[in-house]
Amino acid sequence: MAQLWGGRFTKETDKLVYNFNASISFDQKFFKQDIEGSIAHVKMLGKQGILTEKETVEIETGLKGILEDVESGCLVITDEYEDIHSFVEAVLTERIGEAGKKLHTGRSRNDQVALDMRLYVREEVTATDELVKSLLTALLKIMEENTETVMPGFTHLQKAQPVTLAHHVGAYFEMFKRDRGRLHDIYERMNYCPLGAGALAGTTYPLDREYTAKELGFYGPTLNSMDSVSDRDYVIEFLSALSTIMMHLSRFCEEIIIWNSNEYQFVEIDDAYSTGSSIMPQKKNPDIAELVRGKTGRVYGALTSLLTTMKGIPLAYNKDMQEDKELTFDAIDTVKGCLALFTGMISTMKFNKDRMSESARGGYTNATDAADYLVGKGVPFRDAHGIIGRVVLYCIERGIAIDDMNLAELKTFSPAFEEDVYDAISMETCVNKRLTIGAPGDIMHEIESAGKYLEEN
Ligand code: ARG
Repeated sequence: MAQLWGGRFTKETDKLVYNFNASISFDQKFFKQDIEGSIAHVKMLGKQGILTEKETVEIETGLKGILEDVESGCLVITDEYEDIHSFVEAVLTERIGEAGKKLHTGRSRNDQVALDMRLYVREEVTATDELVKSLLTALLKIMEENTETVMPGFTHLQKAQPVTLAHHVGAYFEMFKRDRGRLHDIYERMNYCPLGAGALAGTTYPLDREYTAKELGFYGPTLNSMDSVSDRDYVIEFLSALSTIMMHLSRFCEEIIIWNSNEYQFVEIDDAYSTGSSIMPQKKNPDIAELVRGKTGRVYGALTSLLTTMKGIPLAYNKDMQEDKELTFDAIDTVKGCLALFTGMISTMKFNKDRMSESARGGYTNATDAADYLVGKGVPFRDAHGIIGRVVLYCIERGIAIDDMNLAELKTFSPAFEEDVYDAISMETCVNKRLTIGAPGDIMHEIESAGKYLEEN
């Protein structure tokens, strides 16, 4: 009996193993980088006399043809090959014959894939950086337009002290600016070329690694062949930076969702970025903001996944590392999509300035300033704090703001109150008097340095 299905079982297993092992369904994403890397390699082999000039030209022309044909769609990458490297080499040999078989001289798929991934990630670091820059430009515009838009600043999601929308958005400007700093650092650290590391121990051919590194726009070659083929730190660093970008986007989205709620009505998300409900006709839901918030988990997942994959890998290359790709590609595409959509959403969002300032006024956000006013009149801060606490209680019972009390009423709490109290605790004063570096009253400097930063970076 066993023999009856034994043959079939083995065959099935072979197919399963093949599919399990293959990576072409996802590593075709870097066909361009794979071919660019091969062109640099082959030029170097020619220059070093490892290949003849004729072979070099044939291979280079063949590779360029494959690149063009894949890009134009007349050559389709199919899954009959194990990975993108085998596909390119097979098509090349099919097209140019014997010389094609020499492409892989002095190279292993281990240094080849290390190079491809690095080239791919390097491009994506730059592309992500550009998207973050566009977001910063959109944020700066909102800041410039809202230096006088008073709103409540929160701690514990309770109204705390008045700020301006410019100031609030300025906080995100700083966050995304740091994100760009991280991307920059990653680029600087990762921009070294692993090509020429071979399988793990270099090769006996006289390869010119400086040459290929320069050809491919790297600062230079990586310095240890075993590290070169097994280093995925830069992918982890990038995923970490992407996770932080998502964390920032998600926090902002959370605020937008709150601000967009019926209770707040601080903002109105443009129709193009909201959706309706299939049952409740009155609804306009902040789906895009919710999705960005939701997708954050997915990007964190990629980071955790790769960290976990890498943690038990002995030197040098191990097939586990093939797992670096799908989640990374997905994370990159997710973050880029989120950045573009978020920038669109925030640029078209309406800010209800009146609602915001009304809310700031209604939340006793000037209580600190009222206490500080009394301090200015010689009352010790601890006493002033107690007096204003009682004033606030009085106001809450009556459903009024501190500013709504007349002077006689105020004087029953402390004789130190004078007519100038109203000016001292107006929302405008509360904001404008906070002049320390980085405080809401300092917004013009903040905007100025933000503009300068965007010009220079
Ligand atoms: N598909 C492989 C990867 O992504 C390419 C390297 C294969 N190297 C090997 N020795 N099997 O890692």
